[in-house]
Amino acid sequence: MRLKLRIWRQRDANDKGKLVDYDVDVNPHMSFLEMLDELNGALLEKGEEPVAFDHDCREGICGTCNLYINGRPHGPIRTTTCQLHMRHFHEGETIVIEPWRAKSFPIVKDLVVDRSAFDRIVQAGGYISVNTGSARDANEIPIPKPIADEAFNSAACIACGACVAACKNASAMLFVGAQISKFALLPQGKAERKTRAEKMVAQMDAEGFGACSNTGACAAECPVGISMANIARLNREYYGAKLTSTNV
Ligand code: FES
Repeated sequence: MRLKLRIWRQRDANDKGKLVDYDVDVNPHMSFLEMLDELNGALLEKGEEPVAFDHDCREGICGTCNLYINGRPHGPIRTTTCQLHMRHFHEGETIVIEPWRAKSFPIVKDLVVDRSAFDRIVQAGGYISVNTGSARDANEIPIPKPIADEAFNSAACIACGACVAACKNASAMLFVGAQISKFALLPQGKAERKTRAEKMVAQMDAEGFGACSNTGACAAECPVGISMANIARLNREYYGAKLTSTNV
């Protein structure tokens, strides 16, 4: 199938950047990243600079393949970019490919952004002080199945940043809500739940992410289905911590 690609090209963080058009002829069964590999092969053959884009697992697990495709994070279906296939586009279509657009995710080059703000938020949350023992010991702490399932669903977040890219405020509340929820729901995570909520929210604000106005775009675009309940839980955890906080 023949396609026109309109791709954001930006030499480095200081370059102004612009959209550049390319024509490609690809197999509809290729993944989106394989299609970009093909384009890069052709660019290299012509002696041109290949398009920089991030990827790692190509299995929908690592959250690295963050591309804004035709105005939507990860493109037209709810999945990661690496799991998107060209058959979801039609012959002759123009596909606009941009990096995540958020001040807290500065562009490094072309389609690659720096998402280390997420790492710093996770780091701010700190460690679990409870000795959780070996894998076998986990079965000795009875946890009701619905709670375990809820915690597991929150832990499914792959930190791709689609929630931030989809949000008109570039808010990271869905991501932070998932990180806080996966611990707050389980007995092992309860000891530090207050300081964790305070510190993660403080770091989220320091990184410059916007506030949540509950439009739900984040949850609608999340490739792994993290729900808005995580944002509600984040607010409960945070305000509960603040009521008894010793931090000023
Ligand atoms: S490359 Fe890992 S989720 Fe897409």
